Amino acid sequence: MRINKYIASCGVASRRKAEELINSGRVLVNGKVVEELSLQIDEKNDEVQVDGKVISLSQKDVYIALYKPEGYITTVKDQFNRPSVLDLLTSIDERLYPVGRLDYETSGLLILTNDGDLTYKLTHPKHNIDKVYRAKIKGRPSEEEISRFEGGIHIEDYVTAKARLKVLKESRDKGYSVVDITIHEGRNRQVRKMCKAIGHPVLRLQRINMGKIGLKDLKPGEFRHLSEDEIKYLKDI
Ligand code: URA
Repeated sequence: MRINKYIASCGVASRRKAEELINSGRVLVNGKVVEELSLQIDEKNDEVQVDGKVISLSQKDVYIALYKPEGYITTVKDQFNRPSVLDLLTSIDERLYPVGRLDYETSGLLILTNDGDLTYKLTHPKHNIDKVYRAKIKGRPSEEEISRFEGGIHIEDYVTAKARLKVLKESRDKGYSVVDITIHEGRNRQVRKMCKAIGHPVLRLQRINMGKIGLKDLKPGEFRHLSEDEIKYLKDI
């Protein structure tokens, strides 16, 4: 592995910062100052020091909240070569995985981490947390439609678990309303299918919360590292 990548993988600095450390003579390999940025490290046998401290590849866990813009896929790459959310994380050296998915057309909160245990736990049906979506939907649902939506609707081969739908705003002349929807599950295109099933298809969809984790001040395409409290909260779920 190249020296700057090695330093980044040890969680000491980003790759670019690692090059600065090397250029300023602060990195030693087997006791000698590194002079070549292209130096390859033998991870098992070489001893690397930064500022006099031996560094090692023990994995640093990274937890990120990303504001996914519309028009990005949540997986690595697809056959259409559409942009991936991972393209927005170029300053992060660790390989991160999304906790659940958002559709290509859906924007909003996506948690990413390299902590496989947490990803597994949060995506397991037993631990699924409440997810809140703000949706612009066609028309305005009646009270009867809302209680159908909330009580569980038959979609394809399953009945949805209890959910909530709150109308925030209605534009009668333009024929749409804005609603907050809370669901506990996370099946494929579930919100879109549920809204369609009550006759009010989604025109625009954004996830605003996953449990207590929110977007805070993020703008589309931006991300932030979760706070210690947020990480603890997710681990304790
Ligand atoms: N439900 C949907 O329909 N789409 C998403 O991206 C997430 C939930």
